[in-house]
Amino acid sequence: MAEEEKKECEYSSTTKKKFEFLEDLPGIGPATAQKLKELGYHTVESLAMATARELEPVGISEKKAFAIIEAARSSIGISFIRADELLKMRQNVLRLTSGSKALDRILDGGLETQTITEFYGEYGSGKSQICHQLCVNVQLPPERGGLNGAALYVDTENTFRTERIVQMSRHLGLDPTEVVKNIIYAEAYTSDHQIFLLENADQVIKENNVKLIIVDSLTAHFRSEYIGREMLASRQQRLNKHMHKLIGLARAFNAVAVVTNQVMAKPDVFFGDAVHPIGGHIVGHTSHTRLYLRRAAHGPVRIARLVSSPYLPEGEEIFKITENGIEDVSEEEKTKSRGR
Ligand code: GTP
Ligand code: MG
Repeated sequence: MAEEEKKECEYSSTTKKKFEFLEDLPGIGPATAQKLKELGYHTVESLAMATARELEPVGISEKKAFAIIEAARSSIGISFIRADELLKMRQNVLRLTSGSKALDRILDGGLETQTITEFYGEYGSGKSQICHQLCVNVQLPPERGGLNGAALYVDTENTFRTERIVQMSRHLGLDPTEVVKNIIYAEAYTSDHQIFLLENADQVIKENNVKLIIVDSLTAHFRSEYIGREMLASRQQRLNKHMHKLIGLARAFNAVAVVTNQVMAKPDVFFGDAVHPIGGHIVGHTSHTRLYLRRAAHGPVRIARLVSSPYLPEGEEIFKITENGIEDVSEEEKTKSRGR
């Protein structure tokens, strides 16, 4: 069968047009495709998540923008849907294990795809260690809590350590040389660079079957670059756009998105937690699941509290960081620490 005919058949049998490349979409010629790529849209999936306004800067008219975004959406099957179909979409949500059963338990089975999970806490609370562990776990098969996928690690503080990945992989019986090949690493030097990296990540994600996107730390650059009250509004606006992009990628590729965030002391709080995560409400509203990590009094034990989630109750669990990575605290250890 000729290529054209085959395409025709596919369309008529499903009535839904499936396009692999931007250039295949109706209304997109080479010049428009080039413009879209300049904006960071290299794939049909990421274009489907764009808004018409986002295509304005390269001179794509609103009318045309609507048409091509709609074509991209129908290509990947997003349009108005009934609630039962929404339920079906939710059923596509996959879960990634953190490495600790206790931590997975407060997350109702692990970190979800299609949304953002934020870990916030003080220095040394284990945020980056969890990110490392997730990069290994995502490569596991589903029966072991993984997603059979690769990881993308955007590192803003130069904390990523391959040696740590090797240790964690060995413990899980994985070949470290294979595991490190499936982690795509990018160091972001400034907040602009960090934004640029995500805006251009869609193709890398698609080509490498990335199922985990990490930004560690989400806020460090923003915090050091946008100083003072008068810069707060523009910082929040940039952060918001960045998070929006991240959600778009997580949805388009059914991937887990993870961001980390440090905390600031709240000088005016006398009761409860005297800290709050950087980035304030915008980060709070867009990250769907937030976990607060803190150190136990001593040793490798960490306390994780689920602070907000769209549907899960608040909960607290403990885990530990060891040579092997993120692990559960044994009953024996729990009893011992209670006795201290
Ligand atoms: P900031 O990025 O500075 O805000 O901190 P973080 O929350 O990212 O902390 P991180 O995840 O880097 O945790 C560091 C802690 O993990 C260390 O203080 C150690 O307690 C523990 N840790 C890191 N590497 C190892 C290791 O190889 N073996 C063991 N046993 N513990 C480790
Ligand atoms: Mg860190």
